[in-house]
Amino acid sequence: MKIIAIGLLVAAIGGVAVFSGPAPAAGQKSVVIVYGSRYGSTAQTAEWIAEGMAGKAALVAAGNPGDISGYEHVILGSGIYGDMLHADMAAFLEKRGSEVRSKLLALFVVCGAPPDYADRYLEKFAAQCGAKPQFARAFGGWMKKELLSPEDFKGLEGYYKSVNQPYENYDRTDKAKCLAFGKEILEKMDAEK
Ligand SMILES: Cc1cc2nc3c(=O)[nH]c(=O)nc-3n(C[C@H](O)[C@H](O)[C@H](O)COP(=O)(O)O)c2cc1C
Repeated sequence: MKIIAIGLLVAAIGGVAVFSGPAPAAGQKSVVIVYGSRYGSTAQTAEWIAEGMAGKAALVAAGNPGDISGYEHVILGSGIYGDMLHADMAAFLEKRGSEVRSKLLALFVVCGAPPDYADRYLEKFAAQCGAKPQFARAFGGWMKKELLSPEDFKGLEGYYKSVNQPYENYDRTDKAKCLAFGKEILEKMDAEK
C-alpha cells in the first residue's frame, strides 16, 4: 500500500513537471528573444534590445532555439526578404507557434523599407503567429553587398534596377532606438509585477 502511495506521489509530481514545463532555474532569465537573421543586422538588433532590457533576456536563433519552455515571455524578431519572414522564423512558427503564442510579449522586424511601409510586415508577422503582441516595432537594418549570397546579390541587383534606384550599401541600424525599445518592454513588465 505504502509503495503504491509513493508511486502515485512520484507520478503526480512528474505529471506536474510535464504539464507546466521546467521552471526557470535560479538566475535564469525570464524572457527569450528568438530571432531570424541572414546577414547579422537582426541578430545585432536583438542584442541591443536585450541590452536595453538590462540583460534580462536570453537570445536564441530561430534555426536552433532548443528548449525555451522555461521562459515566461517570448520576443520574436525577423529580417525581411522578398516581403517574407526569415525562413527559420517561418519554420519556427509553423512547428512551435502554439508553444509561444500565449507568452508572446513583442515582435520586431528588421528591414530596408521605411517604418510606415514596414508596419505591414509587423501585421503579417502577428498574423503568422496567430497572436497580438503587446509591443511591435520595425527597425532599419544594413545591407552589405560583400556579405550577400550570389543569389541574393543578383536578386537585389535586379530589384534596384527595376525601381531605378542605386544599388548601394547602407546601415540604418540605430542602437539608441533598440535600447529604448528594450527599456520600454522592461518597464512595462516591471509595472505589471
Ligand atoms: C534578398 C533580400 C531581399 C530583401 N527584401 C526586402 C523586402 O522585401 N523588404 C524590405 O523592407 N527589405 C528587404 N531586404 C532588406 C533586409 O530586410 C535588410 O537588409 C535587413 O537588415 C536584413 O536583416 P539581416 O541582416 O538580419 O539579414 C532584403 C534583403 C535581402 C538580402
